[in-house]
Amino acid sequence: MEDEAHVPLIADDMKSQVTCCHRKVTRLKLIGICVICTLSVLFITKACIARRWSERTCKFPSSEYNLANDNRKRRLPQSIIIGVKKAGTGALRHFLDLHPDVITASKEPNFFSFRYENGFDWYKSLMPYSSEGQITIEKSSNNFHHEQAPGRTFAFNSTIKLIVVVREPVERAISDYTQRVINNRSRRKFEESVFNFRTGEINREYICIRPSLYHTNLKRWLKYFPLNQIHIVDGENLKRNPYEEIYKVEEFLGLSHQVRREQFVFNATKGFFCFRTSSVVECLRENKGRQHIVVDEEVKARLKRHFRPLNELFFKQIGQRFDWS
Ligand code: A3P
Repeated sequence: MEDEAHVPLIADDMKSQVTCCHRKVTRLKLIGICVICTLSVLFITKACIARRWSERTCKFPSSEYNLANDNRKRRLPQSIIIGVKKAGTGALRHFLDLHPDVITASKEPNFFSFRYENGFDWYKSLMPYSSEGQITIEKSSNNFHHEQAPGRTFAFNSTIKLIVVVREPVERAISDYTQRVINNRSRRKFEESVFNFRTGEINREYICIRPSLYHTNLKRWLKYFPLNQIHIVDGENLKRNPYEEIYKVEEFLGLSHQVRREQFVFNATKGFFCFRTSSVVECLRENKGRQHIVVDEEVKARLKRHFRPLNELFFKQIGQRFDWS
């Protein structure tokens, strides 16, 4: 009797232990799944934020972060905006980024000019992740006026598509000078650097003047590349009518026309066009489109006279004219 009475007691105890264990395992499983889910969400968000931060172009949640798309990798560029600095290269880069088949590098590598010794692995590490069909574009505005950049670029890829933004050369030089003063890289007055104090001649080697010598600089590139491989963007029109200029670049790059006119929104306070990404309107930073340091009108006029014949040579060279009077 005693034995008989004891048996169900043991069985009850075991049953309660099994149920308890089973509950414990289920609870542990649930907690585990929750932890894994939370970590995955955190990881994906962090990756996207980090990328958006560094490249300011996380086209989330469209194709850019399509997790099913695992052919994404860093690719060397198929097109380079080689200059000219202060002519609108930044605006062009951001506007081109609106195209779903284009991805641009956020940092200027200036690889073929000043950083060539860093090597191609370094260069590639600055490129954004892209999908197979996307065109990678980088902008390096010091390339245009650098002696060795054309030869090095040609050795890298003789069929690469080059883009040059130009602007009235004297205004461009003053914009360049303004930037140098703001960055504490120039203390001398503009005219003191621009003119040789002994001869009174224009100092063509001055860092703010050299990039504006469009004809001389382009001649160096034309030694390697045919003109139809170099697209010239009218920097003045890029300000007035960005859609028109982007349309032409799309054509040059062999892209379908996907950037829409409505994506450009004029900002009256800034006095420039901003651009609409999926839902927000972004403007270029305040160092783009800023007030220039005042330069004496006589100095400007003298410079313009100097540039007039050089501009004519440039127009002839490219078979196109701009109104820079
Ligand atoms: P300023 O600051 O002299 O006006 P870069 O990007 O090559 O340095 O060129 C800067 C120039 O881009 C600016 O020079 C400005 O004139 C021009 N620009 C063209 N479109 C612009 C835009 N939408 N917003 C701001 N600047 C623009």
